[in-house]
Amino acid sequence: MLRIAAIADMHVAEDSSGKLSPHWRRLHECADALLLGGDLTNLGDTRQAEILARELEAVQIPMVAVFGNHDLHSNEDDKVRGILERAGVTMLEGETTTLRINSKTLGIAGTKGFGGGFAGACGHAFGEWVMKEFMRETERMAMRLEENLAALRTDYRIALLHYAPVKDTLAGERLEIYPFMGSYLLAEALDRAGADLVIHGHSHHGAEKGITAKGIPVRNVAMPLLKRAYTIYNLGAEEI
Ligand SMILES: [Fe+2]
Ligand SMILES: [Fe+2]
Repeated sequence: MLRIAAIADMHVAEDSSGKLSPHWRRLHECADALLLGGDLTNLGDTRQAEILARELEAVQIPMVAVFGNHDLHSNEDDKVRGILERAGVTMLEGETTTLRINSKTLGIAGTKGFGGGFAGACGHAFGEWVMKEFMRETERMAMRLEENLAALRTDYRIALLHYAPVKDTLAGERLEIYPFMGSYLLAEALDRAGADLVIHGHSHHGAEKGITAKGIPVRNVAMPLLKRAYTIYNLGAEEI
């Protein structure tokens, strides 16, 4: 069994120093890896990234992360990525990584994902160029996610996202914002490629648990929703 700690939407800002590290210091006693599902910082600038990097010094297990929309706001994502990588975080954007834990292999395919909405109430790559670009961005990310997951030959596979692939984990959000919270294209990609677990964030007022049409468990680990510094899922257990 692999014990996966996960959290998203910490929105680390100038007043976050010392707030997360005490909760993460003993994480290695109860988890094998920490997954971070985006909105790691509030505005995505280097100052906030440095504060997060210092908080992450407390973590003694492998860390893997994707960006959220907030992490891109200051157009400093290359620098932010560098700061977090130097702090030991494996950053994924349309990429994969494999961890070896207790003689098992865990493959993680990570992407921020994007919006567009859900079947029956979604955008289309039609009309204005900016609308076509919006939807094509999601299509590209979903396609890459599918290819990456399908290529992983590991005992377990996790998809790490920021945006939601299903509506279940948005329950509690206003219906009007669903198209900005995720896309069903991500779920279709997941179901075609297969995965053992999907982790995402972005939905601060949604629900923790959901499932894709083909039965892949989806977990929304946004910190404002969970109201704690991490949660743990047991891969290989009967109930994740
Ligand atoms: Fe967020
Ligand atoms: Fe977000």
